[in-house]
Amino acid sequence: MSRVSARRSCAAAMAALLLCACGDDPAPYDPGDPPYDKLSDWRFFRGALADLQPSSDVLPYTVVAPLWADFAGKGRYFRLPEGGKIDFTDKDEWGFPEGTIFIKTFFFDTDRSDPDDEPRIVETRLLVYEPAGIASYIYLWNDAQDEAERIKGGADVHLSYTDADGKPAEQLYLVPDQNTCEDCHARDDVAVVLGPTTHQLNTAAPPESEEQGNQIDLFASLGLFREAPPAAASLPAFHAPTGDGALAERARSYLHGNCAHCHRPGGGGGPSGLSFLYWEDRPAEYGVCKVPAAAGAGAGGRQVDIWPGDPERSIVPFRMSTTDPDIKMPELPSLLADEFGAKLVSDWIASLTDPACEY
Ligand code: HEC
Ligand code: HEC
Repeated sequence: MSRVSARRSCAAAMAALLLCACGDDPAPYDPGDPPYDKLSDWRFFRGALADLQPSSDVLPYTVVAPLWADFAGKGRYFRLPEGGKIDFTDKDEWGFPEGTIFIKTFFFDTDRSDPDDEPRIVETRLLVYEPAGIASYIYLWNDAQDEAERIKGGADVHLSYTDADGKPAEQLYLVPDQNTCEDCHARDDVAVVLGPTTHQLNTAAPPESEEQGNQIDLFASLGLFREAPPAAASLPAFHAPTGDGALAERARSYLHGNCAHCHRPGGGGGPSGLSFLYWEDRPAEYGVCKVPAAAGAGAGGRQVDIWPGDPERSIVPFRMSTTDPDIKMPELPSLLADEFGAKLVSDWIASLTDPACEY
C-alpha cells in the first residue's frame, strides 16, 4: 500500500469513528482481549464490585477442608463456557472444558472482634482453562475497593485491623508472584485445579449460592455434568476440620487440603516420599515412623515424621507450628502458622496407638 492510500484509508477510518461517536448508540465498551487489566472487565460480578454478587453464569462454591492462608477469608466461584460440561470422577480428576474459569477472592476482617465487620478485599486469583493449559492471573484490589488491577510480580500488603481483644494490630500478607502458583497448582509439571474434587465439594452450597443443597447434587440438577454422578450421599467426602466428625477423619482431611497438593506422587513435595492423600492408607506413606528424606534443622531434633502417640517426637506438627521460613510447612507464601491445624494434627498423632517406632 502506498503512503498516500494508507493516509486516505486512515482518514476514512477516522471519519467512520466520528460517525459512530455521533450515532445514537454509545460505542460498545471494549476491554480488549483477556486476560484483562481490570477485574471488572471479566464481568464475573454485578453491581458494586466489592459486593461480590456473582453474575448469572458464575456459581459460588465452597470446599470442606480449605487451605489456611494467614487468616484470610475466601470467596470461591467458577464459570463454565456456554454449553460446557464437567467430566466427573469420584476422586480428584474432574475434567473442565476450555474456557472454564475459577475465581478465588481473599479478604480480611478489619475488626476481628466483630463478626459483622466490613471485610477488606485484598486479591482475586484466577485459573483459566486456555488452549495451552491452565493459566494463572492475580488482581490486587485498590483501597477504595471498587477495582482490582492485574499484577504479575506479587505484592506485600500491610493490613491494619482490630484484633479479637479490640486492640489495634498489624499484619504483613504476601500476595504470591504469578510464577509461584504452580508450586502448589501442578502435578507432574502440568497445571491443575485443587479444590474442585469429589471429597472437597461433597457438602452444602455456601450461603451466597442462589440455590441451597449439596453442591454436587446441585451441579447435577443444573445439568453441569456430561454424565450425572450418583447421588452425593453415596459419594466420599472430607470431614470438616472444624466440625465434629471423628478426629482421624478431620486431621486427614486437613492434611489433604493443606499439604497433599505437594505431598503426593507428582507434587512438589513428592520426592520427600511423604504422601498426605486422604485415601493413602499405608501408614508409612503418610509419615508413621518415616525417617525424613533430608534431616537437618527441619527435623527439630526429631527422628520421624509421625511417632504414634507422641506429637512431641513427631516432625509433622513441629514443621506446622514454626514460622521459620526455612523450616515451616507449608512453604511460603503463608507466613503464619495455623495453630488450629497444628493442634488438630497433634491431637490425632497423640491418639494413634501403634506401631511403636524402632529407635
Ligand atoms: C501454598 C499452595 C498454593 C499456592 C502457592 C497457590 N494456591 Fe491456589 N489453591 C491452593 C489450594 C490447596 C486450593 C484449593 C483449596 C481452597 O480453595 O481453599 C487453591 C485454590 C485456588 C483456586 C480455586 C480453584 C482451585 O484450584 O481450587 C484458584 C483460582 C487459585 N487457587 C488460584 C491460585 C493462583 C492464581 C495462585 C498464584 C498466585 C495460587 N492459587 C497459588 C493452594 C495454593
Ligand atoms: C508448596 C509445596 C509444599 C506444601 C504445600 C507442603 N510441603 Fe512439606 N515439603 C515440601 C518439600 C519440597 C519438602 C522436602 C524438602 C524439605 O524437607 O524441606 C517437604 C518436606 C516435608 C516434611 C519432611 C518429610 C520427609 O519425610 O522428608 C514434612 C514432615 C512436611 N513436609 C510436612 C508438611 C505438612 C504437614 C504440610 C501441610 C501442613 C506440608 N508439608 C505442605 C513441600 C511442601
